[in-house]
Amino acid sequence: MTVFADEALSAFGIAYPARATKLRHSLLSHPLLETDRLARLGETLPADQVEYNLGNIDVSQPDPSATPSNGLTVAETLANIDRAGSWVALRNIETDPDYRKLMMDCLSQIVPLAEKQTGKAYRPEGFIFASSPGAVTPFHLDPEHNILLQVRGQKTMHLFPADDEEIVTARQHEAYHDGGHCNLAYEPAMEARATAWDLTPGDALYVPVKAPHWVQNGDEVSVSLSITWRSEESDRQRRIYRLNGLMRRRGLNPPPLRAGDPRIPVKDFSARVLDRLGML
Ligand SMILES: [Fe+2]
Repeated sequence: MTVFADEALSAFGIAYPARATKLRHSLLSHPLLETDRLARLGETLPADQVEYNLGNIDVSQPDPSATPSNGLTVAETLANIDRAGSWVALRNIETDPDYRKLMMDCLSQIVPLAEKQTGKAYRPEGFIFASSPGAVTPFHLDPEHNILLQVRGQKTMHLFPADDEEIVTARQHEAYHDGGHCNLAYEPAMEARATAWDLTPGDALYVPVKAPHWVQNGDEVSVSLSITWRSEESDRQRRIYRLNGLMRRRGLNPPPLRAGDPRIPVKDFSARVLDRLGML
């Protein structure tokens, strides 16, 4: 299955891994992405792979336990997503064989290009987001390289640079890699630093590792497929932030992780050793 045309692959190859870029894709009207089929998937996935809540929420939800429930089952929510006022995430869809094939078909064109720049791509994971008109995905970051394919409806992703320390501080990165939640506190004054990416069916957006974002759904039901992977590069970031967190807990003040810093290889070597020893 060809999902991305040559033009999209070339745009991806130029932007990856650090810059966001919009691509076109051909994954529209796929039976696995119809809401009735998604309702069946939601019923069969383990509960810890299904997250859903009311969709009319604040952009800033740093405490995810405060996110209001919609009082429905996930199948009821998905079957009535046009009027349920809700947001649904189906996580790790690769645990279902049909969805794994769909996701791997999408990734098969991307992985060879990604591996040229960030080393071995591994841990492919897929997510489906279905949301009611007007729903909001609160401000957060994700640990993976991600391509979000918009399949139905319109949404706007407000995407911030991954390395803007005034948006996410080094301490926040360290806390996240120490097991903290991905949601972040948001203040309207931050918005000037965001790029708003308008996504309609057939659009896809490459989202760099840990680039913070929030999403505003349009006036119709939205369905998106997210295909993600990890790499040597994303792993290095994780190890170094964990090492920095360890150093900070020991009373040190480690320098922030910045791309191109000549100390990175030495620091990563130390982090690998500590990781192997189970000390990170
Ligand atoms: Fe996200």
